[in-house]
Amino acid sequence: MCGIIGIITNKKRDLVPELISSLRNLEYRGYDSTGIALIDGTVIKRLRRVGAPSDVLHAEEIAEELEIKEIGQSIGIGHNRWATHGKPSERNAHPHIDCSGDIALVHNGTILNYESIKDELIRAGHMFTSDTDTEVIAHLIEDKVAEGLSLQNALLATIERLEGSFGIVVCSTQEPARLYVAKRGSPLSFGIKNDSLIIASSTNAILAHTNTFITLEDGEYAELAADENGIRYHVGNFLDKRRGITKKPTTITDFSIDELSKGEYESFMRKEVYEQPAAFRTTLLGRYDEQTGDAVLGGLIDHEETLRSTQNIITLACGTASYAAAVGGVLIEALAGIPVRNEIASEFRYRTVPLDPKNTVLFTVSQSGETADTLESVKEARRKGYPTFGIVNTVGSSIAEAVDAGVYTRAGFEIGVASTKAFTSQLAVLYLLALKLARTRGMTLQAGRAFLAELERIPEMMQRTLSETDELMRAYAEKYVAKNIRTINFLGRGIHVPLGQEAALKFKELTYIEAGNYPLGELKHGPIAVIDKHALSVIIMPKDELFSLSKNSIEQILSKDGNVMVVTDEAGARELKKGSIDVVTIPTLSNPLLYPLLEILPLQLFAYHYARALGNNVDKPRNLAKSVTVE
Ligand code: F6R
Repeated sequence: MCGIIGIITNKKRDLVPELISSLRNLEYRGYDSTGIALIDGTVIKRLRRVGAPSDVLHAEEIAEELEIKEIGQSIGIGHNRWATHGKPSERNAHPHIDCSGDIALVHNGTILNYESIKDELIRAGHMFTSDTDTEVIAHLIEDKVAEGLSLQNALLATIERLEGSFGIVVCSTQEPARLYVAKRGSPLSFGIKNDSLIIASSTNAILAHTNTFITLEDGEYAELAADENGIRYHVGNFLDKRRGITKKPTTITDFSIDELSKGEYESFMRKEVYEQPAAFRTTLLGRYDEQTGDAVLGGLIDHEETLRSTQNIITLACGTASYAAAVGGVLIEALAGIPVRNEIASEFRYRTVPLDPKNTVLFTVSQSGETADTLESVKEARRKGYPTFGIVNTVGSSIAEAVDAGVYTRAGFEIGVASTKAFTSQLAVLYLLALKLARTRGMTLQAGRAFLAELERIPEMMQRTLSETDELMRAYAEKYVAKNIRTINFLGRGIHVPLGQEAALKFKELTYIEAGNYPLGELKHGPIAVIDKHALSVIIMPKDELFSLSKNSIEQILSKDGNVMVVTDEAGARELKKGSIDVVTIPTLSNPLLYPLLEILPLQLFAYHYARALGNNVDKPRNLAKSVTVE
């Protein structure tokens, strides 16, 4: 959460446009307020605004408003905020400064003990101008500098006082050729270019400048310098007091800058929904063998024996990733017969799970690889001795680094805050994993081959589903907006229950309308009380052995005047009474367990069109941030 950028260069130039474009690339991390600060000659110039950078930061106006004197600058920092302490407002937006205005900093994370530090600083005469936890950091550094410490040592001494998480970037007019940074719990990487170093909370903002970067680990700090001798960096560790650490830069080559733009699409979400067939195909690529009817998961190759002998599986994730894990859980139980326990990461860490680490393995699922709840739970699981594997999208992220081994999803950059292509790519890995586990436990060669043959066809079927349902979902969305639907539930049985959870999450994130979900059979045990002409039940029920049972539930809803939309396959559609219900048809598959890979697509589109009909921002839904790095 929160986006941080810092640029230092030995080739002075107008840094305002670069800071703004970097903040736009980081917008998905937080977008309720934003700000930048620059060292202009000998003073810090700062500008803060409420709103997202693409709406409120415009380079031409800013230079004028800041009354920038110098032709170019060597140092600039910027921040997109996702408010935790203090409302989104100009006074609470970052960068924050000390009393003298000589020190400016941006922070991502949460300082847990800020109240007591703030009281102490106020008693010592410091003037606070915001309600944030962050501002104490600026004043603590100010005190240490006043005691005679260099900015770096002042930052290190300050950190010792802080409880909680932080990624901090700080600059001072006293050292106009240096940026200092420190990390604990919040991501920070810096890119390396001929004449500049670019520090950011996400590589998204760095890749527009350079594809070579260093990722800091928890406990690390860095000094970034740029002067007539060139650019230099120095990394140390403030936990074990090591001053010099050699870190090997990472260079990403399989990346196109187009991934960071919307291209021909009107929103990132729409682009990413349409990227799903390609992302799914890329995630499968080279990870199965048609001959042996088996999955080939290179990242887990050293742990095959553990996987073969495990008696239990725990999945660990949050939000969309947890629903992907839950779909995977049903699949693994059905195909491999291994009991799966789907754990929500924010709960797992705080309770006892009575499973023996000696015969249990844990799979964690995460798009960002930075979700604090998930990361902390992974650490807890490792402490307890569970073999811990990752299904993560972001290469080199904290969760990817924290696990014993894993398999990367290859969804590419997901910028839309509501997750879409990351979800289906997570399913791609989970389907391969289920196959791998099943093939060591009794699934026949023929069954393995048939499963793979169908999995290979999924991208084509996804493409068909998207083109055949997009317009229909727009029409249905507009119809139900006009009907003023007050209650919406996403229902199904078996593997479609967690799929309904994901569909409900997508719907509520984008439309701001509460959406429920539960197993369809539960309807008669209470929830049917909410059904009336203002209620919509979306039932996910392709033609399988429970189809007739599900049809009974439709009758129950219709008899109470409820609205029904059904997502089903071609065979199912033929058996449904059109007219009284809305039917969404997806292509027929021979293995019903694969339907979730298609079912989610029209439901993502439904949420998307519904939100657009309401006038909501589909890329940046209110109150959310893409990467939840606070617990
Ligand atoms: C919903 C969404 C969130 C994330 C959740 C976990 O659209 O994006 O529910 O799925 O915050 O995030 P990751 O996968 O980054 O760990």
